[in-house]
Amino acid sequence: MMLFTSSLASAKIALEEIRALDPSARLRRWLEPGLGWIELALSWDAFAALLREQPPVFCRHVCPVQITVPLKQDASDLEMLVESARQLNPSLDAAQTFSVQTRLFGEGWPYARFDVNTRLANALTAQGFALDVRRPAQILSVALTPKTGYLGVSRAADNLSDWAGGERRFKTEPEQISRAEFKLLEALETFGLSWPNVGHALDLGAAPGGWTRIARVNGLQVTAIDPADLAPPLATDPGIRHLRHTAQRYLPGTDDTFDVILNDMRVDARDSARSMLTAHRNLKRDGWAVMTLKLPHSHAERVATSALGLLRQRYTLIGARQLFHNRNEITVALTGRQ
Ligand SMILES: C[S@@+](CC[C@H](N)C(=O)[O-])C[C@H]1O[C@@H](n2cnc3c(N)ncnc32)[C@H](O)[C@@H]1O
Repeated sequence: MMLFTSSLASAKIALEEIRALDPSARLRRWLEPGLGWIELALSWDAFAALLREQPPVFCRHVCPVQITVPLKQDASDLEMLVESARQLNPSLDAAQTFSVQTRLFGEGWPYARFDVNTRLANALTAQGFALDVRRPAQILSVALTPKTGYLGVSRAADNLSDWAGGERRFKTEPEQISRAEFKLLEALETFGLSWPNVGHALDLGAAPGGWTRIARVNGLQVTAIDPADLAPPLATDPGIRHLRHTAQRYLPGTDDTFDVILNDMRVDARDSARSMLTAHRNLKRDGWAVMTLKLPHSHAERVATSALGLLRQRYTLIGARQLFHNRNEITVALTGRQ
């Protein structure tokens, strides 16, 4: 058994992604909107191997369920959970580090996520397992609903995200221009992208300028394309060239080349993919690109598939995911090809 998490709007698509990998998988029930409890026909290891080969786009996080525990929402729960964690010892590799990731759903909890994490981690370290909260090799995943707790152990790399439920949160910085910045930060981390030491970025659909700001903070010059205004701190930055054009007007006539292309344009996903096909000749050989694909409420998967198909004509896909900071969109990372 396992739990999977997606955005609320993408829950059914995420379920289909799981069924595409394990056609006999059965949804036991939705524990919460966007949190499905699944009975896999495959073993967890076989399913995890398939996830590595064909990573899903809309499914954000998965974790196995090896034990379920009845809960009362009082202090006795913690003892029950500790006992269950001990029962999971055989699933933990003593030669590898571990961490506990707890999620609490619903109201009325007399204890916090932190309390559960600490109690279970202490119980396991007392038995000789090595805790590493920063880069654990294994995760004890704990999902608590008002009546039932769901626990399972997996390799961190098999959960699709290093964060409980895929919820990657960043601190807000005083200089932050838009919440869109979190999307780019999450994409860089998820897809393992690093900025070149120096270089030039193209930012399509740049306004108000969050992605442009991040590229500047990382030492790149930026050409920002957007008919709309950039935020005042960026408007006077000599490292930014802002052209008040649409991408469709700018791209066909330019021979500029870029180390990085960013694209967060609010346009139909397929049109945005077509702009990226035009921009392909402007991306330097070792360059990379990050873009969002804006999806409609209905047929989101179909539109995403067709936009990804367009992109594959000229790019190699590093990955495509609906990240925690994406709403009705997915984020795609690309490298040039040919
Ligand atoms: C979600 S906002 C971008 C936010 C930006 N990434 C940030 O971090 O602040 C989308 C932007 O796309 C721009 N846009 C829409 N259609 C465009 C087009 N055809 N060419 C260029 N920009 C476009 C809009 O003007 C809008 O500013």
